[in-house]
Amino acid sequence: MTDYKEMTRAELEAQSAALEKEFARYKEMGLKLDMSRGKPSPEQLDLSMGMLDVLKSTDSMILENGMDARNYGQLEGIPEARRLFAEVMGIDEDEVFIGGNSSLNMMYDAVSRAMVFGFPGGEKPWGQQKKIRFLCPVPGYDRHFGICEVFGIQMINVPMTPEGPDMTLVESWVNNDETVKGIWCVPQYSNPDGTTYSDETVRRFANLKPAAGDFRIFWDNAYAVHHLTDDHPKLLNLMDECKKAGTEDMVIMFCSTSKISFSGAGVAAIGCSKRNMDQLKQKVAMQTISFDKLNQLRHVRFFKDLPGIEEHMLRHRALLAPRFQTVLDTFHRELDGCGIAAWTEPKGGYFISVDVMDGCAARVIALCKEAGVTLTGAGCAFPYHKDPRDRNIRIAPSYPSVEELSKAAEIFTVCCKLAAVEKLLQEA
Ligand SMILES: Cc1ncc(COP(=O)(O)O)c(C=O)c1O
Repeated sequence: MTDYKEMTRAELEAQSAALEKEFARYKEMGLKLDMSRGKPSPEQLDLSMGMLDVLKSTDSMILENGMDARNYGQLEGIPEARRLFAEVMGIDEDEVFIGGNSSLNMMYDAVSRAMVFGFPGGEKPWGQQKKIRFLCPVPGYDRHFGICEVFGIQMINVPMTPEGPDMTLVESWVNNDETVKGIWCVPQYSNPDGTTYSDETVRRFANLKPAAGDFRIFWDNAYAVHHLTDDHPKLLNLMDECKKAGTEDMVIMFCSTSKISFSGAGVAAIGCSKRNMDQLKQKVAMQTISFDKLNQLRHVRFFKDLPGIEEHMLRHRALLAPRFQTVLDTFHRELDGCGIAAWTEPKGGYFISVDVMDGCAARVIALCKEAGVTLTGAGCAFPYHKDPRDRNIRIAPSYPSVEELSKAAEIFTVCCKLAAVEKLLQEA
């Protein structure tokens, strides 16, 4: 296909007329398609239905430590579940704290606790310090940025590279500026780029020398086992590297089974050093006597161990991979050579990230909406919803069917072309 940027005005006008016709045809179809929701499809949720039958009223509810799963106690989680999450996170069992159903909830609470009580190593709670700032690798997960916004934490964009966040920039901020208290990281299959941090990036994180004693890396490993290919990247373990560098208090790890078992009814966990764990337990003990141990037990009895989870994830992959492939095939067929869009081809996770022509993302999203395709709002992957180049669009292929995705992706490419032609004609 011809590069749009090399077209003459007459060629662009001809292209525009043809695209308008195609666009009108889609509009007439009155479609209702949605590529905005990063949630599992019903077929994926069906994969875990057996979990609802693994705990029967006649089964023993006595845990391996002799405690009764139905009763209060075991604030940090049942030993069986701590062992399972320790395997997933690659840390020791006593470094695992199991919470409720949502890791995002645990992240929010961690920030909230830091605001009110501070973190070990800090002189004062964050909330009593004049200025608090977080580094935000972009594009990133909107809800991370939402947490900062809620607490009035100032956000600083750090560009993502194919290796992870720009570490030179991260080091220069963290090591020199004591107002920088945290950084949001999705180290495996980042949301939305699908990037897995390189070994070098992980090592550089472990070897940060923060100016602030209460600086923390928020290591949200939401997609730790969510592979789409056999030759998937392997993430170096940050906790191991931190222990070598003596910096293990600097990291708080998060993960959950939201996209393994049931979204909103899974189990979430934190991984952290003893010093952070002691504070966590002390503070949470005033919030709850214990979390839902029956759900923890259900998860353990259903998955058993990490190989059990990995086997289960192959079934998710069988449903997800064709969906991703449908979108990618359509993009290649319709956009290759046009010079108006670049996209990621992730080996795992839940998203494809598209960069359209600068200044066109909001327009593409609006055009898609007119033609019946819902996408996540413009700028969603940036702090304050401000994409400085107005070019990034997050595509979530997990929920719709392959047929729906095929149509939605096709319409998306028409809208990309239309927006590009409009822009180029304006500039010509
Ligand atoms: C990076 C990331 N972290 C956390 C979550 C939410 O996890 P949970 O359901 O455990 O709160 C999501 C959901 O999309 C996510 O993409």
